Amino acid sequence: MDLRARIEDLRNKIRYHNHRYYILDDPEISDAEYDRLIRELESLEQDNPRLVTPDSPTQRIAVEPAKEFPKAPHFPPMLSLANAADENEVLEFDKRVKKKLLDIGILEYIVEPKLDGLAVELIYEDGSLSVGSTRGDGEVGENITQNLKTIKSIPLVLLPPENVTYPHRIAVRGEVIMEKTDFDELNAQRARQDEPLFANPRNAAAGSARQLDSRITAQRQLDAFFYGVGDCAELPCDTHYDVVTFLKNAGLKVNPNISLCSDIEDAIAVCKDIEFRRNEFPYEIDGAVIKVNCLEYQNRLGSLSKSPRWAVAYKFAPQQETTVVRNIIVQVGRTGALTPVALLKPVKVAGVEIRRATLHNQDEIDNKDIRIGDTVIVQRAGDVIPEVVKVITAERKGTEKKFSMPESCPVCGCKIVKSQKEVVSRCPNQTCPAIIKENIKHFVSRRAMNIEGLGVKMINQIVEKNIVKTVADLYYISCDEWKNLDRMAEKSARNIVDAIEKSKQAGLERLVFALGIRHVGEHTASIVVQNLKSIDGIKNASKETLLSIHEIGPEVAESITDFFNQETTINIIDRLSNAGISMDPVKVQKGEQLAGKTFVFTGTLKDFSRTEAAKRVELRGGKISSSITGKTDYVVAGENSGSKYAKAQTLGITIIDEEGFKQLIS
Ligand code: IVH
Repeated sequence: MDLRARIEDLRNKIRYHNHRYYILDDPEISDAEYDRLIRELESLEQDNPRLVTPDSPTQRIAVEPAKEFPKAPHFPPMLSLANAADENEVLEFDKRVKKKLLDIGILEYIVEPKLDGLAVELIYEDGSLSVGSTRGDGEVGENITQNLKTIKSIPLVLLPPENVTYPHRIAVRGEVIMEKTDFDELNAQRARQDEPLFANPRNAAAGSARQLDSRITAQRQLDAFFYGVGDCAELPCDTHYDVVTFLKNAGLKVNPNISLCSDIEDAIAVCKDIEFRRNEFPYEIDGAVIKVNCLEYQNRLGSLSKSPRWAVAYKFAPQQETTVVRNIIVQVGRTGALTPVALLKPVKVAGVEIRRATLHNQDEIDNKDIRIGDTVIVQRAGDVIPEVVKVITAERKGTEKKFSMPESCPVCGCKIVKSQKEVVSRCPNQTCPAIIKENIKHFVSRRAMNIEGLGVKMINQIVEKNIVKTVADLYYISCDEWKNLDRMAEKSARNIVDAIEKSKQAGLERLVFALGIRHVGEHTASIVVQNLKSIDGIKNASKETLLSIHEIGPEVAESITDFFNQETTINIIDRLSNAGISMDPVKVQKGEQLAGKTFVFTGTLKDFSRTEAAKRVELRGGKISSSITGKTDYVVAGENSGSKYAKAQTLGITIIDEEGFKQLIS
């Protein structure tokens, strides 16, 4: 093979593997093999500088800092989106659209997550990336080509087209984002180096993509999704759906959560579903975008000065608000960890009133410099505990008080320990009433032993009256003892005794989870049980045995062996066993029971998280989908199920409630 051909061959191979790795998440070759290809190409190019082209995969390398970014005009302008604050405003949008289209009957929509990042445009000429720019004011942005080239998921060359010929010049539009975990990592690193923190992933993405020194951009974990086309002579597409498919086939990253909806009701249902799952996305989304699918209709609808008439952004309720830290207290958790908690002036965030926010630990308080009396921005992300994002220092009056963690446990008075490698302080006293209470709360909780009727107040009483010292003691409390407690009647005492009795059959998976071993959640508990099969198997498992289980790492293995090496653990297990608690696994059916069946969840389930419910379905061979189509087999409707319920009814799809779902997977 001659030199040119070898170079071209290497470039094509590397491009192909880049696409498999960064876009499809499905690499075909090892990292080492990939490195060999890169190195060979690099050395050939080094020896033959004349053969280097700007679209060679080696040209992602960052270059010397620029003084300022050249300007990059956009044609047509990059518009923004009109907002719809709620369902009614979406329905009004649908009415406006239909009216403008001369009272057309049905209209298909596309719904996509609205990514919270930096809007960019990439221009590909004859398939090669020539210019990449920011949105700027919509008409003119900044040319940040060099920076965008450092983002691995942005192809420097489009994939060879199948069946279609690429337009000579095509401008694609999308969003550069930073995933939440990468953002946390970046900020943690900045905190260690005493650099100012980014307020949110959007700022971090924008700040990173707009570095004058592209070597800095190259070090940041950025990603990009594409959702539209700007200037382009002949696009081989009739619908927006065709456009995203076209982008995907060209090797650009397209969001996998794009839904084609048959009408506006369907679109609203998908928006609500995305909002419901909002925190499951690895990156931040601040809404859902509804777009008219047909491109001809889009053209006929046209645009206003700032936004197109054919699209609208369904905005999610904000997850941040401003409030005041009234006080800072310290809570003792199940593992003895002391957590400082801010007591807040009550404020509604995303529809829920919050009064407290976790401050995590002293380091966090110091880093964010949170003081009693401060005005702060708080954030609530779904099920996640509310937290303080930052202090508004401009609001300081000088009367704010600094806080530091106590030297001794606020509950039992024991001296606090703070290990070198951890930032947390712990109460080391395993008989600290706070720790016992937390252990019991966890043990009886729905996802653990599911002992109904044993609430926080009751738990406080039995611990404070020394009736229980460990979770095993619960099984030795007589009905009379329960009756003698404050606010306990004959009937409720009976109910608790019955509930405790019933919990004896919860099975080993739940029991292992209920024991509250550090780092052992529901999922880990069940794989440990599946692999080791009995309580003795688990008790006697060595670190090596545990490590041989897929998904179990050193930290978890160590935590499990440490736990079962304690005498108190062995005593608890013996006492539980003597009380008649079943130590047998509940057989997890791995099978074909639901093979070929597609499930859609709507509303909130009481006993499962969405992820957990989905796992149960998948374990049995079923599939999960986010929107209802003719192919849906079951709609599982929890509480507050929205318009999906109605849609399922119209389509005649089987709707089951949580009970029905449990039966199906039992
Ligand atoms: S469509 C003219 N789709 O939202 C149509 N925009 O408020 C506008 N955005 O500047 C773009 N995700 O940065 C569209 N799936 C998505 C989007 C999206 C995020 C951003 C984009 C735009 C802003 C408009």
